[in-house]
Amino acid sequence: MSKKIEQRIEELRELIREHDYRYHVLAEPIITDFEYDKLLRELIDLETANPHLITPDSPTQRVGSDLTKEFKPVEHTTPMLSLSNTYSEEELYDFDRRVKEGLPSSEKVEYVCELKIDGVSVSLRYVKGKLSVAATRGDGTIGEEITTNVKTIKSVPLSINNNVLDTYKLKDFEVRGEIYMEVEAFNKLNQERELLGERTFANPRNSTAGTIKLQDPKIVAKRPLKIFLYYLSSNNLKEGTQYGNLQLLEKLGFRVNRNYSLCKNMDEVLKFCKEWEEKKDKLPYEIDGVVIKVNSLRQQKILGNIAKSPRWAVAFKFKAKQATTKLNKITWQVGRLGTLTPVAELEPVFLAGSTISRATLHNIDEIKRKDIREGDTVVIEKGGDVIPKVVSVVLSERPENSAEVKAPIVCPECGSKLYRPEGEVAIYCENNLCPAQIRGRLAHFASRGAMDIEGLGDALINLFVDMNFLHSYSDIYNLKNKRKELIDIERLGEKSVDNLLSAIEKSKQKSFEKVLFALGIRYVGAGAAQKIADHFLSIDALIKAREEEIESIYEIGPSISRSITRYFSEKKNREEIEKLKKAGLQFEKKKVKAVSSTLDGKTFVLTGTLSGMSRDEAKDKIISLGGSVTSSVSKNTDYVVVGEKPGSKLDKAQKLNITILSEEEFLKMLEK
Ligand code: IVH
Repeated sequence: MSKKIEQRIEELRELIREHDYRYHVLAEPIITDFEYDKLLRELIDLETANPHLITPDSPTQRVGSDLTKEFKPVEHTTPMLSLSNTYSEEELYDFDRRVKEGLPSSEKVEYVCELKIDGVSVSLRYVKGKLSVAATRGDGTIGEEITTNVKTIKSVPLSINNNVLDTYKLKDFEVRGEIYMEVEAFNKLNQERELLGERTFANPRNSTAGTIKLQDPKIVAKRPLKIFLYYLSSNNLKEGTQYGNLQLLEKLGFRVNRNYSLCKNMDEVLKFCKEWEEKKDKLPYEIDGVVIKVNSLRQQKILGNIAKSPRWAVAFKFKAKQATTKLNKITWQVGRLGTLTPVAELEPVFLAGSTISRATLHNIDEIKRKDIREGDTVVIEKGGDVIPKVVSVVLSERPENSAEVKAPIVCPECGSKLYRPEGEVAIYCENNLCPAQIRGRLAHFASRGAMDIEGLGDALINLFVDMNFLHSYSDIYNLKNKRKELIDIERLGEKSVDNLLSAIEKSKQKSFEKVLFALGIRYVGAGAAQKIADHFLSIDALIKAREEEIESIYEIGPSISRSITRYFSEKKNREEIEKLKKAGLQFEKKKVKAVSSTLDGKTFVLTGTLSGMSRDEAKDKIISLGGSVTSSVSKNTDYVVVGEKPGSKLDKAQKLNITILSEEEFLKMLEK
């Protein structure tokens, strides 16, 4: 009996490894996630019943269950070197010259060009074909052991097929590469963190570095980490080439970046570098240059290293879009929710297509870390080509009398004492009546995505707040009673006042979800407002709702629900809504009743990808036919619609005996 179980366990492991490889390395899966999960489930169950059969390379060990308390130091078998950088053609030709000078004059030199992935380097040691230790670079000689975390990256093979090892006569070996996050996955992660009120990461590399050092591998497993391997070393390997090793790595089952090229001379190398400098933004991940390596490993050995970098490789770094200018002043901007953001007021400078006179400094910790001061000459960069940021200070140009920046203690706008929650870097002005917050809220309310009041822009809002005409949203709808006074304002003629007043009247037609978004409740963006309005249909129902009900809405999390209940618990907010109701704004949504109301009152959960429509479309259809959609399966769920690659919701539905609909069945139901 136990032999049979052992055999089945081995069989399952082999199957899962194969599918992991197909899915994560080749990106060509041949079974659905559902089928895959079934195999994994069976293995977990067998291993749970027979714990003595668990091996460290079992696919079940990817998501470690134990918390690592700290990272153990690991000495690298050979130092993990870094590369010296080059920034120009001349420097690359210098490198080529040095390489040739270091080799007998009869030798021909070829180079392999690879993309320089902007991530975190890692070393993986395999003993008898099984992953034994994964380590960070550390100081190059000693790194930190991060095996449990690395095991969560599905494209890292935990063991290598014995036949393959035999073919290449490999047993113990080391591979090195770069762990990274794709830009889109990184943005998504940051959005989720923002929704949950957690600190966002500055870029994919920081996010990767932070993730790989987390203490809980279960959280690591949820982060979208990926890996490319570019180095292979083993005592058994006969001397070969870097080009051959990249191909061998792939044969061993490792994920290799295919954008590499064998170049016969420096001209070809330069062509490769230029091409990728142009094309780099089209890649789904970030690269910060090209790595150029001498192809022959024998030549690499002859050339050796200087200090911490090899003589046989160099990095060609792409030019960041940077400029240097003077930072005249640091001001603190108060947002509509009271958050203070430091802003660098710069001597205007032209950078990558536009003139820049302001750059964000993020927060006080960032200012301290970079030691940025007023009067400094600073290097600015267009991060991701959007909001410019201050990268560093040119210390040699610092004026003598400069002083460290201190965080303000009182709000620069209203003078009230500021609040900095413990352990947070953010600083808040808690005075709801702070004119900056009022201006920010009003601007958001009138903006295009919200009430879309044409003509009520920042300039008029500032003016009306200063003149005490506007404090709250409802004041906007009372402006019509001040028509004469408005016309008397020098800059505003009768016509523009009437245009403004009619735009204000028109905004009363805006739908409930727009009004809900316009209220500016923390974390309630346009998308969330739409989902909430669809679910509750009226502000009165929403005011009465408990957090759990709000959270049960598909894609609405605890930060949003908590923020909403907190908002409505304040009397003055409820009073303001009453005033807006009186003014005639829409606080209800008309439910579109289906002719035949098949879905009336039915609750749906969607899981997996539908082939014929997006999730949002499916959801809209359900709602328009009188049903509702929630994000999690409970005993109150009527139907679970299962698309391709369904998640754990399907298991739960099966357990709770809830009717499961295929996409086809679901479509039929919509047609009825
Ligand atoms: S080779 C001795 N190849 O860039 C050679 N490095 O400063 C060492 N990197 O620490 C590395 N992509 O983290 C190499 N294709 C690539 C790379 C790469 C990214 C990183 C790596 C290394 C740093 C060099």
